Amino acid sequence: MTTPVSLEGKNIGCIGCGNMGSAILNGLSQLAEVHLFGYNRTRSRLAPLEEKGVTAVDSIPAIAGLSDLLIIGVKPYLVKQVLTEALPALRPQTVILSIAAGISLADLKSNVQNHCAVVRVMPNTPALVNAGSFALALDDPALCSADQQACIDLFSSLGQVLVLPEEKFPAFTALIGCGPAYVFHFMDALAEAGVTLGFTRQEALELVTQLTLGSAKLAALPGSHPALLREQVCSPAGVTIEAMNHLDRTAVRGHLIDAVLSAYRKS
Ligand SMILES: NC(=O)c1ccc[n+]([C@@H]2O[C@H](COP(=O)([O-])OP(=O)(O)OC[C@H]3O[C@@H](n4cnc5c(N)ncnc54)[C@H](OP(=O)(O)O)[C@@H]3O)[C@@H](O)[C@H]2O)c1
Repeated sequence: MTTPVSLEGKNIGCIGCGNMGSAILNGLSQLAEVHLFGYNRTRSRLAPLEEKGVTAVDSIPAIAGLSDLLIIGVKPYLVKQVLTEALPALRPQTVILSIAAGISLADLKSNVQNHCAVVRVMPNTPALVNAGSFALALDDPALCSADQQACIDLFSSLGQVLVLPEEKFPAFTALIGCGPAYVFHFMDALAEAGVTLGFTRQEALELVTQLTLGSAKLAALPGSHPALLREQVCSPAGVTIEAMNHLDRTAVRGHLIDAVLSAYRKS
């Protein structure tokens, strides 16, 4: 994959290489012109990343000192502790990118004592297969336009990026951060129907997974709209419109909307 100019020659570090941190480094390993570094509490978790060209670093100060862009991939309750340990080694031009849910830009600025620029990122789990959606809050005035571009390019190589004001993060979390659970719930229910109709569980799951992938590809075509695609499947007096009528009578759309609004109230 071609390395964006904004990232050429950059040192990109990640502290906390679990599910999400590893997925991010793994995705970035496709870029030839960046240098990747990882630090994780349990060092053995870095072995698969080292095979992809990531350099394992032995301490938080070491990775903090050498990173131009430093991703914080630990659980939210550990962010303050990790940044406090990193702080003495951080250079003012380093940019901190935190993926920790619920940790605000103000928290991050306070943790690094305003020493460098910070970015808040909200990923979702399809990032694990390079198909994530990432919200980026680039509201820190200390972030120059070149660094803003570098942050956008970094996550664009891992999926879709949306730059949002921080106050939109709860909405993004409720719709897209939680979103994979909604889709999996829907897929699981369809597979259950398939089993009821006599498919094996394996067959039902494979069929429903392909159904979801194929439908998403159709919906992603330029000019596509889910309502129009649904209309195309519903012939007059046909079979599909029977099912759609049942979904409408039982207010499935309303329940989905309410589910997202419930998550939003809690975000
Ligand atoms: N997973 C998601 O769907 C999702 C979505 C949005 C945001 N996030 C955010 O992503 C972050 C990571 O989540 P995750 O699911 O990837 O968690 P995870 O798999 O538990 O990864 C966290 C990693 O941090 C390491 N770690 C803990 N303390 C450390 C320290 N002091 N120094 C270095 N490494 C340390 C852990 O090491 P060990 O191997 O020793 O445990 C673990 O590998 C969280 O802040 C979460 O809020 C996750």
